Amino acid sequence: MTILITGGAGFVGSNAVAHFLAQGRRVIALDNLGRRGTDKNLAWLQGLGGDMVFSQTDIRDAAAVTAVFRAYPDIEALLHLAAQTAVTTSVEDPREDFETNALGTFNVLEAARRLPRLKALLYASTNKVYGGLTDVAVVERDDRYAYRGCPDGIAEDRPLDFHSPYGCSKGAGDQYVVDYARIYGLPTVVLRQCTIYGPRQLGVEDQGFMAWFCIAAMLGEPLTIYGDGKQVRDILYVSDLLALYERAIERIDRIKGQVYNVGGGPANTISLLELVARIENLLGRRLELRFAEWRPGDQRVFIANIAKAARDLDWQPQVSVEEGIEYLLAWVLDNRDLFA
Ligand SMILES: NC(=O)c1ccc[n+]([C@@H]2O[C@H](COP(=O)([O-])OP(=O)(O)OC[C@H]3O[C@@H](n4cnc5c(N)ncnc54)[C@H](O)[C@@H]3O)[C@@H](O)[C@H]2O)c1
Repeated sequence: MTILITGGAGFVGSNAVAHFLAQGRRVIALDNLGRRGTDKNLAWLQGLGGDMVFSQTDIRDAAAVTAVFRAYPDIEALLHLAAQTAVTTSVEDPREDFETNALGTFNVLEAARRLPRLKALLYASTNKVYGGLTDVAVVERDDRYAYRGCPDGIAEDRPLDFHSPYGCSKGAGDQYVVDYARIYGLPTVVLRQCTIYGPRQLGVEDQGFMAWFCIAAMLGEPLTIYGDGKQVRDILYVSDLLALYERAIERIDRIKGQVYNVGGGPANTISLLELVARIENLLGRRLELRFAEWRPGDQRVFIANIAKAARDLDWQPQVSVEEGIEYLLAWVLDNRDLFA
């Protein structure tokens, strides 16, 4: 099976490319290498061997995307992961964010419609499509916030409520992907991902906080916490996400046109303060913290209800919060040169 992965040099993308190459599949990795450090992910992928073709292509360019897809008519699975991923950047430059996430996704869908052998198209959406969730009651505990009710987390039937240019552009992509299944019969699935973390995550202060905290700790840089640090996320280790991608491709006939929340779920949550404490524990030293104003729209808590994915895909996260942080920190410490 030939798989095309957009954003193939990014965090999730490079892990996905490596995963499918290791299975002996042919992988077309497409990326514009716009994100800082993605050239290093690409160099790592090129060193793995395997049947990979890399195409430096910008998904904002419809003709270029169409040309790449046309060159590989044997593509059977498509993971659309390329995106502008930082909310802060989307606020600074909403046009570029729109062009990459909304128009870029549209370009990918239009080109995918003409792929003769396409069996599955997965789109990496985001929990941000549910907005601020201000009506979901939250209680404050010592080191974290928690939902007052809602023990299973936020499910897919939650109304959409796009906040921030990033929320709007990813949300527009999300809805186009759902609709292309309805209108054109394209075998698409939308995966509304929560916080994903793991090796090859080039976290920066504005995006990818799990990796960023480990990187800043390794570099000995002070960490700025926006808000009080008690905000909670469910977190999913990248290998668990890849297992889900694989299962979704296998079961595409049963799940096409569907939307799934994908995260660590209620059993795998962490607050920023708890993450700091874990890293301090593993490193055996204190981190220097600074506190700043809350970022607009930052949810106090987001925990996904992953029951639908668990049921339809017979899938559960396997990597615990403790193990995952240990693996990520070890990878960051072993790859100091990537962050110099
Ligand atoms: N990592 C997470 O926690 C998380 C959570 C929710 C959703 N997602 C979604 O998952 C996907 C992958 O996220 P990630 O964490 O790997 O992000 P990432 O930033 O590491 O990867 C995105 C990749 O897309 C590429 N890209 C950006 N603009 C492009 C363009 N115009 N043309 C071609 N390539 C372009 C970048 O160079 C980068 O390699 C994204 O769609 C993101 O919105 C991620």
